[in-house]
Amino acid sequence: MLVRPTSDVSVLPDGIDLRQGALEDERLPLESVETVVYCASMGFGHTPPLLRQLQAAGVKRGLFVSTTAIFTSLPAASRTPRIEAEAAVQDSTLDWTILRPTMIYGTARDRNISRLLRFLARWPLFPVCGNALWQPIYVEDLADAVVAALDNPTTVGRTYNLAGAYPLRFAELVRTAARTLAQRVILVRVPVSAAVLAARVSRVATPEQVRRLAEDKAFDYAEATRDFGFRPRSFAEGVRLEARALGL
Ligand SMILES: NC(=O)c1ccc[n+]([C@@H]2O[C@H](COP(=O)([O-])OP(=O)(O)OC[C@H]3O[C@@H](n4cnc5c(N)ncnc54)[C@H](OP(=O)(O)O)[C@@H]3O)[C@@H](O)[C@H]2O)c1
Repeated sequence: MLVRPTSDVSVLPDGIDLRQGALEDERLPLESVETVVYCASMGFGHTPPLLRQLQAAGVKRGLFVSTTAIFTSLPAASRTPRIEAEAAVQDSTLDWTILRPTMIYGTARDRNISRLLRFLARWPLFPVCGNALWQPIYVEDLADAVVAALDNPTTVGRTYNLAGAYPLRFAELVRTAARTLAQRVILVRVPVSAAVLAARVSRVATPEQVRRLAEDKAFDYAEATRDFGFRPRSFAEGVRLEARALGL
Protein backbone atom coordinates (compact mmCIF):
# COMPACT_ATOMS: atom_id res chain seq x y z
CA MET A 1 0.00 0.00 0.00
CA LEU A 2 1.30 3.46 -0.92
CA VAL A 3 1.45 5.77 2.12
CA ARG A 4 2.80 9.28 2.59
CA PRO A 5 5.01 10.28 5.53
CA THR A 6 1.97 12.14 6.88
CA SER A 7 -0.50 9.23 6.45
CA ASP A 8 -2.20 7.89 9.58
CA VAL A 9 -1.19 4.23 9.29
CA SER A 10 -2.58 3.39 12.74
CA VAL A 11 -5.97 2.75 11.08
CA LEU A 12 -4.52 0.02 8.83
CA PRO A 13 -4.47 -3.68 9.77
CA ASP A 14 -1.13 -5.29 10.63
CA GLY A 15 0.83 -7.18 8.01
CA ILE A 16 0.30 -4.81 5.07
CA ASP A 17 3.26 -4.13 2.77
CA LEU A 18 3.58 -0.34 3.22
CA ARG A 19 5.56 1.60 0.61
CA GLN A 20 6.43 5.25 1.03
CA GLY A 21 5.55 7.65 -1.75
CA ALA A 22 3.11 10.23 -3.05
CA LEU A 23 1.21 10.52 -6.30
CA GLU A 24 3.38 13.51 -7.32
CA ASP A 25 6.51 11.30 -7.26
CA GLU A 26 8.13 10.62 -10.60
CA ARG A 27 9.28 7.15 -9.50
CA LEU A 28 6.81 5.31 -7.35
CA PRO A 29 7.85 2.04 -5.62
CA LEU A 30 6.02 -0.31 -8.00
CA GLU A 31 8.39 -3.30 -7.93
CA SER A 32 6.46 -6.62 -8.21
CA VAL A 33 3.08 -4.83 -8.24
CA GLU A 34 0.60 -6.56 -10.57
CA THR A 35 -2.66 -4.93 -9.51
CA VAL A 36 -3.41 -1.37 -8.42
CA VAL A 37 -6.51 -0.16 -6.58
CA TYR A 38 -6.56 3.62 -6.86
CA CYS A 39 -8.57 5.26 -4.05
CA ALA A 40 -7.26 8.84 -4.03
CA SER A 41 -9.25 11.56 -5.75
CA MET A 42 -9.04 11.57 -9.55
CA GLY A 43 -9.69 15.32 -9.53
CA PHE A 44 -6.15 16.64 -9.09
CA GLY A 45 -4.44 15.59 -12.32
CA HIS A 46 -2.42 12.71 -10.79
CA THR A 47 -4.02 9.92 -12.79
CA PRO A 48 -2.58 10.43 -16.33
CA PRO A 49 1.11 10.56 -15.19
CA LEU A 50 0.48 7.69 -12.77
CA LEU A 51 -0.89 5.58 -15.63
CA ARG A 52 2.33 6.12 -17.58
CA GLN A 53 4.31 4.80 -14.59
CA LEU A 54 1.97 1.82 -14.12
CA GLN A 55 2.25 0.84 -17.77
CA ALA A 56 6.04 1.23 -17.76
CA ALA A 57 6.27 -0.92 -14.60
CA GLY A 58 4.21 -3.70 -16.22
CA VAL A 59 1.22 -3.42 -13.88
CA LYS A 60 -1.56 -5.51 -15.43
CA ARG A 61 -4.77 -4.76 -13.58
CA GLY A 62 -6.12 -1.44 -12.31
CA LEU A 63 -9.29 -0.61 -10.41
CA PHE A 64 -9.96 3.13 -10.14
CA VAL A 65 -12.40 4.72 -7.72
CA SER A 66 -13.90 7.73 -9.44
CA THR A 67 -17.12 9.49 -8.43
CA THR A 68 -20.68 10.14 -9.63
CA ALA A 69 -19.84 13.83 -9.05
CA ILE A 70 -18.64 13.86 -12.66
CA PHE A 71 -22.36 13.99 -13.59
CA THR A 72 -22.90 17.33 -11.86
CA SER A 73 -24.47 20.01 -14.03
CA LEU A 74 -22.66 22.66 -11.94
CA PRO A 75 -19.42 24.26 -13.13
CA ALA A 76 -17.27 22.35 -10.59
CA ALA A 77 -13.52 22.95 -11.01
CA SER A 78 -12.76 19.26 -10.42
CA ARG A 79 -15.17 17.99 -13.11
CA THR A 80 -12.87 18.39 -16.13
CA PRO A 81 -9.77 16.76 -14.52
CA ARG A 82 -11.97 13.89 -13.31
CA ILE A 83 -13.38 13.32 -16.81
CA GLU A 84 -9.87 13.51 -18.29
CA ALA A 85 -8.62 11.05 -15.65
CA GLU A 86 -11.37 8.55 -16.53
CA ALA A 87 -10.57 8.95 -20.24
CA ALA A 88 -6.86 8.31 -19.56
CA VAL A 89 -7.76 5.10 -17.67
CA GLN A 90 -10.05 3.99 -20.50
CA ASP A 91 -7.27 4.63 -23.07
CA SER A 92 -4.64 2.77 -21.04
CA THR A 93 -3.26 -0.68 -21.79
CA LEU A 94 -4.20 -1.90 -18.30
CA ASP A 95 -7.06 -4.29 -17.66
CA TRP A 96 -9.02 -1.48 -16.06
CA THR A 97 -12.29 -1.11 -14.17
CA ILE A 98 -13.73 2.20 -12.98
CA LEU A 99 -16.16 2.37 -10.04
CA ARG A 100 -18.06 5.61 -9.49
CA PRO A 101 -19.56 5.72 -5.98
CA THR A 102 -21.98 8.34 -4.76
CA MET A 103 -21.30 9.98 -1.38
CA ILE A 104 -19.56 7.47 0.90
CA TYR A 105 -20.52 7.18 4.58
CA GLY A 106 -20.18 4.71 7.41
CA THR A 107 -17.27 5.57 9.70
CA ALA A 108 -16.29 8.26 12.19
CA ARG A 109 -13.83 9.41 9.54
CA ASP A 110 -16.42 10.22 6.89
CA ARG A 111 -17.01 13.90 6.35
CA ASN A 112 -20.76 13.77 5.90
CA ILE A 113 -23.17 11.42 7.75
CA SER A 114 -20.99 11.22 10.89
CA ARG A 115 -21.31 15.02 11.13
CA LEU A 116 -25.06 14.83 10.52
CA LEU A 117 -25.47 12.20 13.27
CA ARG A 118 -23.40 14.18 15.78
CA PHE A 119 -25.38 17.32 14.98
CA LEU A 120 -28.74 15.55 15.35
CA ALA A 121 -27.63 14.03 18.66
CA ARG A 122 -27.19 17.58 20.06
CA TRP A 123 -29.69 19.84 18.32
CA PRO A 124 -33.46 19.47 17.67
CA LEU A 125 -33.50 21.77 14.59
CA PHE A 126 -31.96 21.00 11.23
CA PRO A 127 -31.82 23.28 8.15
CA VAL A 128 -32.93 21.63 4.91
CA CYS A 129 -31.82 23.32 1.71
CA GLY A 130 -33.80 22.09 -1.31
CA ASN A 131 -35.16 18.54 -1.28
CA ALA A 132 -33.00 16.69 -3.76
CA LEU A 133 -32.69 12.92 -4.10
CA TRP A 134 -29.67 11.39 -2.31
CA GLN A 135 -28.40 7.82 -2.50
CA PRO A 136 -25.26 7.55 -0.36
CA ILE A 137 -23.29 4.30 -0.34
CA TYR A 138 -22.22 2.52 2.86
CA VAL A 139 -18.43 2.23 2.94
CA GLU A 140 -18.35 -1.57 3.38
CA ASP A 141 -20.65 -2.00 0.36
CA LEU A 142 -18.11 -0.03 -1.66
CA ALA A 143 -15.21 -2.07 -0.25
CA ASP A 144 -17.07 -5.31 -1.11
CA ALA A 145 -17.70 -3.95 -4.62
CA VAL A 146 -13.98 -3.25 -5.10
CA VAL A 147 -13.12 -6.86 -4.19
CA ALA A 148 -15.97 -8.38 -6.22
CA ALA A 149 -15.17 -6.28 -9.30
CA LEU A 150 -11.47 -7.16 -9.09
CA ASP A 151 -12.33 -10.86 -8.83
CA ASN A 152 -14.65 -10.78 -11.84
CA PRO A 153 -13.09 -10.62 -15.33
CA THR A 154 -16.39 -9.35 -16.82
CA THR A 155 -15.64 -5.96 -15.25
CA VAL A 156 -12.48 -5.41 -17.30
CA GLY A 157 -12.93 -2.41 -19.61
CA ARG A 158 -16.15 -1.30 -17.86
CA THR A 159 -17.29 1.65 -15.77
CA TYR A 160 -19.96 1.25 -13.07
CA ASN A 161 -22.04 3.67 -11.02
CA LEU A 162 -22.48 2.52 -7.40
CA ALA A 163 -25.01 3.84 -4.88
CA GLY A 164 -27.05 2.88 -1.82
CA ALA A 165 -30.05 0.55 -2.22
CA TYR A 166 -32.49 3.28 -3.22
CA PRO A 167 -32.66 7.08 -3.37
CA LEU A 168 -34.39 9.19 -0.74
CA ARG A 169 -35.22 12.87 -0.46
CA PHE A 170 -32.87 14.88 1.71
CA ALA A 171 -35.59 15.60 4.30
CA GLU A 172 -36.28 11.85 4.57
CA LEU A 173 -32.57 11.13 4.88
CA VAL A 174 -32.35 13.53 7.84
CA ARG A 175 -35.50 12.07 9.45
CA THR A 176 -34.13 8.52 8.98
CA ALA A 177 -30.87 9.51 10.70
CA ALA A 178 -32.81 11.18 13.55
CA ARG A 179 -35.07 8.11 13.99
CA THR A 180 -31.95 5.95 14.28
CA LEU A 181 -30.89 8.08 17.24
CA ALA A 182 -34.45 8.12 18.65
CA GLN A 183 -34.23 11.92 18.41
CA ARG A 184 -37.02 14.28 17.39
CA VAL A 185 -35.99 16.72 14.69
CA ILE A 186 -37.71 19.80 13.31
CA LEU A 187 -36.70 20.55 9.75
CA VAL A 188 -36.29 24.22 8.89
CA ARG A 189 -36.68 24.81 5.15
CA VAL A 190 -34.07 27.18 3.76
CA PRO A 191 -34.43 28.42 0.14
CA VAL A 192 -31.42 27.50 -1.98
CA SER A 193 -30.89 31.17 -2.95
CA ALA A 194 -30.73 32.18 0.76
CA ALA A 195 -28.29 29.34 1.54
CA VAL A 196 -26.06 30.37 -1.39
CA LEU A 197 -26.03 33.96 -0.09
CA ALA A 198 -25.25 32.75 3.46
CA ALA A 199 -22.40 30.62 2.10
CA ARG A 200 -20.95 33.63 0.24
CA VAL A 201 -21.06 35.80 3.36
CA SER A 202 -19.99 33.22 5.98
CA ARG A 203 -17.54 31.27 3.77
CA VAL A 204 -18.48 28.12 5.71
CA ALA A 205 -19.18 26.50 2.33
CA THR A 206 -18.79 27.57 -1.26
CA PRO A 207 -21.92 28.54 -3.23
CA GLU A 208 -21.17 25.57 -5.48
CA GLN A 209 -21.19 23.17 -2.49
CA VAL A 210 -24.59 24.53 -1.46
CA ARG A 211 -26.01 24.17 -4.99
CA ARG A 212 -24.64 20.62 -5.08
CA LEU A 213 -26.68 19.83 -1.93
CA ALA A 214 -29.79 20.79 -3.85
CA GLU A 215 -28.93 18.75 -6.95
CA ASP A 216 -30.42 15.25 -7.44
CA LYS A 217 -27.82 12.54 -6.76
CA ALA A 218 -29.67 9.29 -7.56
CA PHE A 219 -27.95 6.66 -9.71
CA ASP A 220 -28.87 3.31 -11.26
CA TYR A 221 -26.44 0.50 -10.31
CA ALA A 222 -28.14 -2.38 -12.20
CA GLU A 223 -25.01 -3.10 -14.30
CA ALA A 224 -22.95 -3.65 -11.13
CA THR A 225 -25.61 -6.03 -9.77
CA ARG A 226 -25.64 -7.94 -13.06
CA ASP A 227 -21.85 -8.19 -13.45
CA PHE A 228 -20.58 -8.71 -9.90
CA GLY A 229 -23.58 -9.16 -7.63
CA PHE A 230 -23.59 -5.65 -6.12
CA ARG A 231 -26.44 -5.52 -3.56
CA PRO A 232 -25.98 -2.46 -1.35
CA ARG A 233 -27.60 -1.72 2.00
CA SER A 234 -30.40 0.81 2.38
CA PHE A 235 -29.56 4.10 4.08
CA ALA A 236 -31.71 3.09 7.08
CA GLU A 237 -29.51 0.03 7.62
CA GLY A 238 -26.19 1.78 6.95
CA VAL A 239 -26.92 4.74 9.20
CA ARG A 240 -27.91 2.36 12.02
CA LEU A 241 -24.50 0.68 11.73
CA GLU A 242 -22.75 4.05 11.64
CA ALA A 243 -24.62 5.39 14.70
CA ARG A 244 -23.66 2.25 16.61
CA ALA A 245 -20.01 2.60 15.52
CA LEU A 246 -20.03 6.23 16.72
CA GLY A 247 -21.52 5.18 20.06
CA LEU A 248 -24.58 7.38 19.53
N1 LIG B 1 -15.79 10.69 0.33
C1 LIG B 1 -16.83 10.63 -0.48
O1 LIG B 1 -18.00 10.86 -0.10
C2 LIG B 1 -16.63 10.22 -1.92
C3 LIG B 1 -17.73 10.23 -2.79
C4 LIG B 1 -17.58 9.77 -4.08
C5 LIG B 1 -16.35 9.34 -4.53
N2 LIG B 1 -15.29 9.37 -3.68
C6 LIG B 1 -14.02 8.88 -4.18
O2 LIG B 1 -13.62 7.78 -3.38
C7 LIG B 1 -12.21 7.77 -3.21
C8 LIG B 1 -11.89 7.81 -1.73
O3 LIG B 1 -12.53 8.94 -1.16
P1 LIG B 1 -12.01 9.60 0.20
O4 LIG B 1 -13.04 10.60 0.60
O5 LIG B 1 -11.59 8.52 1.15
O6 LIG B 1 -10.74 10.36 -0.33
P2 LIG B 1 -9.61 11.16 0.50
O7 LIG B 1 -9.93 11.13 1.95
O8 LIG B 1 -9.49 12.48 -0.15
O9 LIG B 1 -8.28 10.39 0.18
C9 LIG B 1 -8.16 9.01 0.05
C10 LIG B 1 -6.70 8.66 0.10
O10 LIG B 1 -5.96 9.35 -0.92
C11 LIG B 1 -4.66 9.55 -0.42
N3 LIG B 1 -4.00 10.65 -1.13
C12 LIG B 1 -4.49 11.87 -1.39
N4 LIG B 1 -3.59 12.60 -2.07
C13 LIG B 1 -2.50 11.81 -2.23
C14 LIG B 1 -1.22 11.99 -2.83
N5 LIG B 1 -0.91 13.13 -3.43
N6 LIG B 1 -0.35 10.95 -2.80
C15 LIG B 1 -0.68 9.78 -2.21
N7 LIG B 1 -1.86 9.56 -1.60
C16 LIG B 1 -2.76 10.56 -1.62
C17 LIG B 1 -4.90 9.92 1.05
O11 LIG B 1 -3.71 9.62 1.74
P3 LIG B 1 -3.41 10.13 3.25
O12 LIG B 1 -3.98 9.06 4.10
O13 LIG B 1 -1.94 10.26 3.28
O14 LIG B 1 -4.10 11.46 3.41
C18 LIG B 1 -6.06 9.02 1.42
O15 LIG B 1 -5.64 7.83 2.03
C19 LIG B 1 -11.70 8.97 -4.02
O16 LIG B 1 -11.43 8.52 -5.32
C20 LIG B 1 -12.90 9.90 -4.07
O17 LIG B 1 -12.89 10.75 -5.22
C21 LIG B 1 -15.38 9.81 -2.40
